[in-house]
Amino acid sequence: MGIPPDRIVFSGVGKRENEIRAAVEAGIRSLNVESLEELDEIADVGRALERVVPVTIRLNPDIASGGHEYLSTGGAGSKFGLGRGEAAEAVRWAEAAGALSPVGISFHVGSQLLDTKPLLEAADRAAELWRQLAAAGIPLRDFDVGGGLGLAYNDGPEPDVGDYIARLGGLARGLEATLLLEPGRHLVGPVGTFVTRVVHVKQAGAKTIVVCDGGSNDLLRPALYGAEHPITVLADGERERATVDLAGPLCESGDFLALNRSVPLPRRGDLIAVELAGAYGRVMSSTYNARPLCAEVVVEQGSWRVSRERGTYDDLVRNEHT
Ligand SMILES: Cc1ncc(COP(=O)(O)O)c(C=O)c1O
Repeated sequence: MGIPPDRIVFSGVGKRENEIRAAVEAGIRSLNVESLEELDEIADVGRALERVVPVTIRLNPDIASGGHEYLSTGGAGSKFGLGRGEAAEAVRWAEAAGALSPVGISFHVGSQLLDTKPLLEAADRAAELWRQLAAAGIPLRDFDVGGGLGLAYNDGPEPDVGDYIARLGGLARGLEATLLLEPGRHLVGPVGTFVTRVVHVKQAGAKTIVVCDGGSNDLLRPALYGAEHPITVLADGERERATVDLAGPLCESGDFLALNRSVPLPRRGDLIAVELAGAYGRVMSSTYNARPLCAEVVVEQGSWRVSRERGTYDDLVRNEHT
């Protein structure tokens, strides 16, 4: 994609050795370290390649936050990052290791945050660690605040992005740091819409179930996180409103796109737009239940083009051997 290596950081609790090696060879800005064992492994790769590897230590700020418990990454018991004591130790260890150069502190408290308070609290904790290291003679370069900014679903509250940036900018200036931001969801969520067709409408007791041809294999977020994406029924003319569940076609009761939504009552054959599906609908999708991947279309300045062909049944078994 042509992104310069010095604009790339690499986070993740389970980086494989070949991935670390590729990142070091590409000369990326920083590998964001999540455990002491990983730090050791990166140092080994640095020595083997005769490179000094820039590392950022990911602080676990002990602030659990996020739009759902599975979207929370900053709590003390989570798999992400290093607690404050270990993080300080990691920076000192990296400083002494020879093959490593500690260049920053990072953190990420969770995703889909509509209130920036936990993000700013975590930034204060990271800044405290930064100052402690500076006082001990270890100056750093990057203050990486991760992502986390949420998207308002259904006219709910929006995070105050202007205030958030202004405060972080002030903090980074005070630390004489370069501020790095990784806002994934907030940027790419709104650019994707998942469009599905109604296959059947049926009653189940008092419930109206709208069975769609797309489900949680295409858009996992409602099933995984209880995400409430805006729903638009693309239908002509007046329709009475009804409270419905939008179900997918999979053999799973947890396969749904929306529950208990008041919408113009869909009919067989209608198209339904499930909005704000850009983060991370495509990359979370699968072929579970023998469902070929859906096609993708880019809509740009009044025209459209297919950017990924619809999957086929042959694709489902393409890499298999008997
Ligand atoms: C280290 C890090 N940065 C950025 C992101 C992107 O977060 P979001 O999509 O909430 O903006 C994540 C998501 O888990 C992350 O773990």
